[in-house]
Amino acid sequence: MIAAVPSSFMTRVLSGIQPTGDIHLGNFLGALRQWAIDQHLHDSFYCAVDLHAVTVQQDPVELRSKTLETMATLVSVGLDPEVCTLFVQSHVPYHTELSWLLECTVSFGELRRMTQFKDKSAKQGDGGQEHVSAGLFTYPALMAADILIYDADRVPVGDDQRQHLELTRDVAERFNSRYGQTFVLPEAAIPKIAARVMDLQEPTNKMSKSSESPMGTVGIFEDTNSIAKKFKRAITDSENQVRFDFDAKPGVSNLLSILGAATDRDPASLADEYDQYGPLKNDTAEAIIDALEPVQNRRAELLADPAELDRIIARGAEKASEVAAITVQRAKDAMGFLPGG
Ligand code: TYM
Repeated sequence: MIAAVPSSFMTRVLSGIQPTGDIHLGNFLGALRQWAIDQHLHDSFYCAVDLHAVTVQQDPVELRSKTLETMATLVSVGLDPEVCTLFVQSHVPYHTELSWLLECTVSFGELRRMTQFKDKSAKQGDGGQEHVSAGLFTYPALMAADILIYDADRVPVGDDQRQHLELTRDVAERFNSRYGQTFVLPEAAIPKIAARVMDLQEPTNKMSKSSESPMGTVGIFEDTNSIAKKFKRAITDSENQVRFDFDAKPGVSNLLSILGAATDRDPASLADEYDQYGPLKNDTAEAIIDALEPVQNRRAELLADPAELDRIIARGAEKASEVAAITVQRAKDAMGFLPGG
């Protein structure tokens, strides 16, 4: 039994996941699983960031169903709605209000240097930036708002979000020095193992929802046979020597990281236990299948009870709004907006 600690003495945590595509092993090991493990230690807020999803065009029917599925996934990975606040970002409109204040604090140059914007706009072709949405460009200001609005001390994310966290701190510091102490400076909490899970077919690229190699990406709700097959066919190298060395052996090191994260072991020492790739692939598949089994079972139960999910979402919006409203008002007062209204 874990003793209840008053939330005012706890570290505040916030993180989010986009409700697009299929949630994969990178999301699970780099983020969701860490959220669930640490939930009792912090006063935690976790959300499906649907406002971020629409920075690229979404089908409305699909966005709605993916948002529901993402909320079901948060509960399925073990986040307890009695312990943490689980909500949908667009249900708390204060995020967009604070985002505007932060868009007026961040500089054009800072946004232009964000690698996510450069990568995503390059993928659009046609000279890229001409056709991407302005929302994709200002995305980091909304993400900073998501974090700062909850006075978050810690933001548990995978390694790919590091630059966004640095910008969030810069924006918070700038705001505080211009207008007086308003925002808490958040720290990124990046896991030691599996902070960047790589594609099983192209192990020099990170596993990603938008990947073009379905055999390289493992969805957390995939069936057991399909997961086993993907690990069996994972790309390694021709050396046939198990060593943890991401530069020289990205495929093997990725398997060791995944196995290490799933079994809570150090990937380098796991390497000493294998002298062939086959058993390493089998054990990694088995460890992942075991880790995902309770998640898959819980999700099936939850999707069978939509009323329960609706209740969780409504309660989360209420709890998150209470905190967010106070921070936005503090920021508006600091900037000199006329009280009232
Ligand atoms: P998103 O939806 O791309 O990913 C959700 C979480 O999964 C992590 N992740 C990975 N970790 C390890 N290996 C991988 N291959 C991998 N792929 C994804 C991500 O680092 C992330 O933690 N911008 C964010 C969403 C966001 C957010 C926020 C996060 C919006 N507002 C505020 C934290 C705080 C994103 O697109 O995550």
